[in-house]
Amino acid sequence: MSWGLQNRLARIINPRTHRTVMLAIDHGYFLGPTSGLEVPRETLKPIQAYADTLMLTRGVLRTSVDPCSPTPIVLRVSGGTSILTPLSNEGITVAMEDAIRLNVAGVALSIFVGSEHERQTLLNLAHLVDEGERYGMPVLAVTAVGKEMNRDARYLGLCCRIAAELGAHFVKTYYCEDFESVVRNCPVPIVIAGGKKLPEKDALRLTYQAIQSGACGVDMGRNIFQSEDPAAMIQAVRAIVHENKNVDQAYELFQSLRSQREPERMLA
Ligand code: 5RP
Repeated sequence: MSWGLQNRLARIINPRTHRTVMLAIDHGYFLGPTSGLEVPRETLKPIQAYADTLMLTRGVLRTSVDPCSPTPIVLRVSGGTSILTPLSNEGITVAMEDAIRLNVAGVALSIFVGSEHERQTLLNLAHLVDEGERYGMPVLAVTAVGKEMNRDARYLGLCCRIAAELGAHFVKTYYCEDFESVVRNCPVPIVIAGGKKLPEKDALRLTYQAIQSGACGVDMGRNIFQSEDPAAMIQAVRAIVHENKNVDQAYELFQSLRSQREPERMLA
């Protein structure tokens, strides 16, 4: 791995804890306006400071993130589909040259294993890895799961391993039962997506179980920005990821931070 690539990766995954809290706000790339993300700049205000990395699209980066902000960026560079069309039919949407011009720390692309467009999305990944190696840019492979796929260790293990074999530098997937085997069989770090909004304590449990099973962190969206208190939630997630707190400790932190802000919320 080149010095530049390692340096960029160290901006994403903390070299001290070997963990990361990535904040995913890229949902609009196929969903359009998403609940909680209607005005991304507003969504980011109370939570950006607690994110190790932001995962987003080029359009949201340019319009909604202060260029002087220190938070490293993982740029989504796959897309070309919407909720109205087969999602798996993705291409690469950003040139590596522009990712470098935007000074991002990494690029992210979805693969759709088992779908109609499996080959196309895997070749997209291989191409992006070639470019990433050429320019020192880490590649995050996102294992997108179609409605018809089981989110089990066998399927997710297959997706993560294929992503790593094709050269992804780290992988994003979903937590599942026997997640240890997914991690064991994947030679690069894994972060988990949060998935649909859950009650806060359940989302913290999911985070805890993933970390205990060997995930190096989260790339979480809806369970943070759709929380009744996004700033409290991301700090509770951080406590698990970076400080090894358990579910009860993290939930207590969430409640205490939330209650401190109660008067503010009442006035808003
Ligand atoms: C979609 C993505 C999204 O960033 C991710 O799934 C969103 O995170 P969450 O599920 O936690 O809302 O990569 O393919």
